[in-house]
Amino acid sequence: MPSSVRMTVNGKAVSGTVEPRTLLVQFLREHLGLTGTHVGCDTSQCGACVVHVDGVSVKSCTMLAVQAEGAKVTTIEGLANGGLHPMQAAFHEHHGLQCGFCTPGMIMSAIDLVKHNSDPSEQEIREWLEGNICRCTGYHNIVKSIKAGAAAMRGATK
Ligand code: FES
Ligand code: FES
Repeated sequence: MPSSVRMTVNGKAVSGTVEPRTLLVQFLREHLGLTGTHVGCDTSQCGACVVHVDGVSVKSCTMLAVQAEGAKVTTIEGLANGGLHPMQAAFHEHHGLQCGFCTPGMIMSAIDLVKHNSDPSEQEIREWLEGNICRCTGYHNIVKSIKAGAAAMRGATK
């Protein structure tokens, strides 16, 4: 039976009627039109669907919309605040993307990493990204981007 769900997405209160099996990523993309969150595998392998739920990165294909009831959700669309988020700017500047399919998930995961570890080493970045798959870049520029994004985020909070 469909049920109603309410949450805050990118600072806005939203609600909708969903099937019990509706995934959070489907709610975001299909009900709210927030198509910046991508679906690569649907089986929790690729990380293209990462969003923040109550500040923590979550693969939104692994969570039901109803499980996010009352939560604060941030998607890639919610990051830019009068200009690119420092992590987005770093990916742009350091060529951290090619086709861009994995990029929203990479950026959301990277921001969560930097919240835990403000100056991650290359090794720590590579370990953190184990759940994020990129089929294009070979990761070198992604790691470089995250290093630069972390430095910019440190600067922004000083
Ligand atoms: S679509 Fe969610 S992990 Fe791939
Ligand atoms: S840039 Fe193409 S999948 Fe990562």
